[in-house]
Amino acid sequence: MCLLRPLLALVFLLALGIGSLQAGRPLKVLGLFPHPGVSHFHFFRPIMRGLAEAGHDVSVVSHFPEKNPPIRYKDFPLTGIDTLTNSVDLQMFDKRTFYSHFQEFFLLLDWGKAACNYTLRSVALHQIMKRKAGYYDVIIMEQFNTDCMMGVAHQLQAPVIALSSCAMMPWHYERMGAPIIPSHIPALFMGQSQDMDFGGRLANWFSFHALNLMYKFFAIPAADALVQYKFGHDLPSVGEMVKNTSLFFVNQHFSLSGSKPMPPSVIELGGIHIQKTEPLPPEIQRVLDNAEHGVVLISWGSMIRANSLSAAKRDGIIRAVARLPQQVIWKWENDTIPNRPRNMHIYKWLPQRDILCHPNVKVFMSHGGLMGTSEAAYCGVPVVATPMYGDQFLNVAALIQRGMGVLLNYEDIGENTVIRTIKKAMDKKYADAAKAVSHSFNHRPQTALQTALWWIEHVGHTGGAPLLKPSAVEMSRFVYYSLDCYLVFGSILLLVIGSWGYVIRHCYLKRATKKKQE
Ligand SMILES: *[C@@H]1O[C@H](CO)[C@@H](O)[C@H](O)[C@H]1NC(C)=O
Ligand SMILES: *[C@@H]1O[C@H](CO)[C@@H](O)[C@H](O)[C@H]1NC(C)=O
Ligand SMILES: *[C@@H]1O[C@H](CO)[C@@H](O)[C@H](O)[C@H]1NC(C)=O
Repeated sequence: MCLLRPLLALVFLLALGIGSLQAGRPLKVLGLFPHPGVSHFHFFRPIMRGLAEAGHDVSVVSHFPEKNPPIRYKDFPLTGIDTLTNSVDLQMFDKRTFYSHFQEFFLLLDWGKAACNYTLRSVALHQIMKRKAGYYDVIIMEQFNTDCMMGVAHQLQAPVIALSSCAMMPWHYERMGAPIIPSHIPALFMGQSQDMDFGGRLANWFSFHALNLMYKFFAIPAADALVQYKFGHDLPSVGEMVKNTSLFFVNQHFSLSGSKPMPPSVIELGGIHIQKTEPLPPEIQRVLDNAEHGVVLISWGSMIRANSLSAAKRDGIIRAVARLPQQVIWKWENDTIPNRPRNMHIYKWLPQRDILCHPNVKVFMSHGGLMGTSEAAYCGVPVVATPMYGDQFLNVAALIQRGMGVLLNYEDIGENTVIRTIKKAMDKKYADAAKAVSHSFNHRPQTALQTALWWIEHVGHTGGAPLLKPSAVEMSRFVYYSLDCYLVFGSILLLVIGSWGYVIRHCYLKRATKKKQE
């Protein structure tokens, strides 16, 4: 009797251990991540690691090999291409217009082409392609600015799961059978929230459809050319292959970016990169603990070198900080900063999330990158946001719409604007809004990682989850939006109105001529 309990406990523990794998064999999973931006990889990494830790065999082609890979995690590193860390010069963003986002689109396309070309020629991919078709159970790839890797998945004949480290691009909706509804879904490049005025909706409509068409016109043929050069000219277009995407994981969460109508194959995993806390470096811990009036954290992400900030803007921030009672921690990639005030602390690298969640942090000055934005949502900290490029305008618009963000335009950075925006963000109503977002962001039926693993295993065990795929994927958009029905009923209505008009006019004319004759 007294033996039974420990025995039961043991059985229970064993069951837990096995329970981390869904019923069925471990999967062979391949990850394909040709884009060299490290901020994107922060979203992929926990998923690939999580798979290996749950007992699956994981191979990863990327620019970011693991320093301590779990067992069953094998890296196939892409080497010799510049990764995009700390490489964005702030001088690029001094002027921005409506056309900027079309320029950004072509910049993205060029990056996509280069990454595709490079990856298809790499040793890493050569090693992967030695495996026979059907070896991998699931292929997980980034879908971003090129669909080049679909060619690889097609050769290896495995179901595909797409990851997007930002919001979905305008060209990602159709492949999942998801509706494009520009009245309340802001296009990534437009930088609006779900609340748009008429002008905003008009521009959003145009941007959504124009970029979707431009992608089909420029990006698909470019990827086709490279893929067919590599694998042969009898391959279907990658534009057809993407319709076989089984699942689409998006790095968003409704608590911040708003609810959207999506098929169950599009799954929100926002915040998945936020893992368990680490102890802070003692020096930073001291600053945080002893800050009587709270702390302001300034960090503009991993891609932007803060010391490319113009001297005027830098000095404006420094003068503003000197006037603040708060302690200010700044991610600054240099050992020195001229005229540093006593309450300013500079560090080349910061454990951003662990600092943000410290109760003394009052305001986060950020560029609105999605990782930092998610961390602000997670910790419930108001943001003074200075978006610079890409999806940052979108993320910042969401922060403002949710009442936890204050905009500070890059070109307006100066002593007074910095003081004013920080003071505004200290208002209690911003803190309350941030806490409300934080609550919804953190309370989910499953953690983001559990959700991801469950669905990946589901795709692996069902050979691509064919039942999840809506017929809508194969429909023309003309039929999808019922434009054919609008056309028929519109025509009938026109015909009825037209014939009534004809009859009435005819009768009236007849009566008129009759009257004349009398
Ligand atoms: C792909 O890379 C090769 C070698 O670096 C280069 O010669 C070729 O022009 C590139 N192709 C495209 C389409 O960029
Ligand atoms: C999509 O998947 C189906 C079923 O696995 C397969 O028959 C078809 O050839 C695939 N289409 C493309 C374009 O890869
Ligand atoms: C650091 O700042 C000094 C002085 O402003 C400058 O000369 C130096 O180039 C900077 N270092 C880096 C790595 O940017």
